[in-house]
Amino acid sequence: MALTGCLWLWRLPLLLTTLMLRSCFLSVSASTTSFPKDLEPLHVVSSEQSYQYPGFQGLLLDNDTLRLGLDFQRMLRINHILYIAARDHVFAVNLTTASEEFVPQLKLTWTSKDVSKCTVRGKNSDECYNYVKVLVPRNDETLFACGTNAFNPTCRNYKMTSLEQVGEEVVGQARCPFESIQSNVGLFAGGDFYSATMTDFLASDAVIYRSLGEGRPVLRTVKYDSKWLREPHFLHAIDYGNYVYFFLSEIAVEYTALGKVVFSRVARVCKNDNGGSPRVLERYWTSFLKARLNCSVPGDSFFYFDVLQSLTNVLQINQRPAVVGVFTTQSNSIPGSAVCAFYMDDIEKVFNGKFKEQRTSDSSWTPVPDEQVPRPRPGTCAGDGPASDYKSSVQFPDEMLTFIKSYPLMEEAVPSVNDRPCFTRTSSRSKLTQIVVDVSAGPFKDRTVMFLGSDDGRVLKVLASTHPNDSFGSKLLEDIDVYNPSKCNVQGQDDRRVLGLELDKDHHALFVAFTSCVIRVPLSRCAQHAACKKACLASRDPYCIWLRTGTCANMAPGFNPIASKALAILFIRQSGEHHLNVVNL
Ligand SMILES: *[C@@H]1O[C@H](CO)[C@@H](O)[C@H](O)[C@H]1NC(C)=O
Ligand SMILES: *[C@@H]1O[C@H](CO)[C@@H](O)[C@H](O)[C@H]1NC(C)=O
Ligand SMILES: *[C@@H]1O[C@H](CO)[C@@H](O)[C@H](O)[C@H]1NC(C)=O
Ligand SMILES: *[C@@H]1O[C@H](CO)[C@@H](O)[C@H](O)[C@H]1NC(C)=O
Repeated sequence: MALTGCLWLWRLPLLLTTLMLRSCFLSVSASTTSFPKDLEPLHVVSSEQSYQYPGFQGLLLDNDTLRLGLDFQRMLRINHILYIAARDHVFAVNLTTASEEFVPQLKLTWTSKDVSKCTVRGKNSDECYNYVKVLVPRNDETLFACGTNAFNPTCRNYKMTSLEQVGEEVVGQARCPFESIQSNVGLFAGGDFYSATMTDFLASDAVIYRSLGEGRPVLRTVKYDSKWLREPHFLHAIDYGNYVYFFLSEIAVEYTALGKVVFSRVARVCKNDNGGSPRVLERYWTSFLKARLNCSVPGDSFFYFDVLQSLTNVLQINQRPAVVGVFTTQSNSIPGSAVCAFYMDDIEKVFNGKFKEQRTSDSSWTPVPDEQVPRPRPGTCAGDGPASDYKSSVQFPDEMLTFIKSYPLMEEAVPSVNDRPCFTRTSSRSKLTQIVVDVSAGPFKDRTVMFLGSDDGRVLKVLASTHPNDSFGSKLLEDIDVYNPSKCNVQGQDDRRVLGLELDKDHHALFVAFTSCVIRVPLSRCAQHAACKKACLASRDPYCIWLRTGTCANMAPGFNPIASKALAILFIRQSGEHHLNVVNL
């Protein structure tokens, strides 16, 4: 029986390679014209199998948690601690001990101060709790946290190691939303806190804001100006080079033919921006630019995935700095999801390209002719390149400031790596919601594995080829049913949407967050291939190795093929294309 299972598993991937989407991040010579088919998983991990994985649900003896669940907001891994921000609490989980028992080592309780005012406002009384929406490192020792605090957002500093409060509370407005459902991002860069959120109770004023820095003015985006931001949903912020980048989706101002359409954007501000002159843009960004992200399937069945759901930090794709995001179709169209990568230098190229303008309120948007773009070029940082003569942005000419105030949108969209998604999923009713990427998987740390969370409780583990001449594309290694109703549902309610993913490679784990629980999933399940070498290899799993002792094993963290005195390391090239990991110990 074992033999049959072994043979069957061995054949399956061969069959599937013929159906596979071509190259993920690599250059593809011939353009594919047909729409990519969904990949079949090489392995399905059922709920029966994943049931054993440890989970965390918050305080089990707390009446609010029993009624409402954990209300996960975000998580953050620093050194060997996983911080989980939820409703009224922040938990710190020791990752070394989490492999045996998933319980927090520290817990911080922070409840709303003045609930009476909140109930008067007549909203849903569950909103009178304190939803911790911001949790970021401020320096090596301090965490900065903000909570909705019953519609009165407030921020505090906490010691990382003890979760003890340090210093005084500060006002959270423009740093943290008023309500748990609103999106926000926050980040410290060079001592300044950059936030993107709604600044008011009615959620009408969206802002990208900088504050808390020493010796730098507080700056924001222009208020109620749809050219700057229009009903944005903020997803991510990145400190990179001279800039802070924001990734968001918003209602497209330049495309109104089909009513309200959502586009995804990357926006950029200079870290040394000091605002404009007393005449133009004083206390507003003078460097705010934004561009559309183009995640589309080219060819006959041209198709856009326009709604960004989640995005990685900067990582290396083909030895170039890049970000990778999951996108979905518009909410009112057929469900579909795609993963697209973008090189940081392609983003820069678009910000150095043409600006977009609308000449009259009912005409279409067109590129601004070069001769109408003032000097120094709008969007340049003071002291940099063409603006090297200007010590501070407050000295910029009015003409330049007036221009960027009206034209923050770029003409070109940022192309994705290879001009196509590296993974698509269109025949499922569920959508992808989250992404984390490991660009150094496998014994030689040269494989790229993407973990994709969905709104139906699953995690897809995808191997993305990044070898320049490997003509095979992405492989769907595992489709893991992670959601565990016995740990995650609250009073019979199921919410299977994956809200967060965090990798802990040091302990071979992936943390998968839902609203009411966080589940710790091992990165691989190699032991299921037992002593079947072919099945072990056919799994294509970079986290699995075949040991000379005749077993298929999870690649232990810290595994080093050289130091482990491997006698030989074989790379079998199957059908002349595949690289497999075989390690003889
Ligand atoms: C939780 O609810 C029970 C039953 O309503 C009540 O007796 C108990 O005092 C509550 N506990 C707390 C800590 O509020
Ligand atoms: C985590 O737990 C381990 C084992 O108990 C301990 O040695 C380590 O100091 C803990 N880490 C932190 C950051 O507290
Ligand atoms: C998006 O990329 C595709 C593929 O390269 C291209 O054909 C299309 O014109 C681009 N769309 C925009 C809006 O730039
Ligand atoms: C890829 O192919 C090109 C041309 O065939 C060759 O010059 C190059 O060395 C190859 N690169 C790798 C990494 O195999």
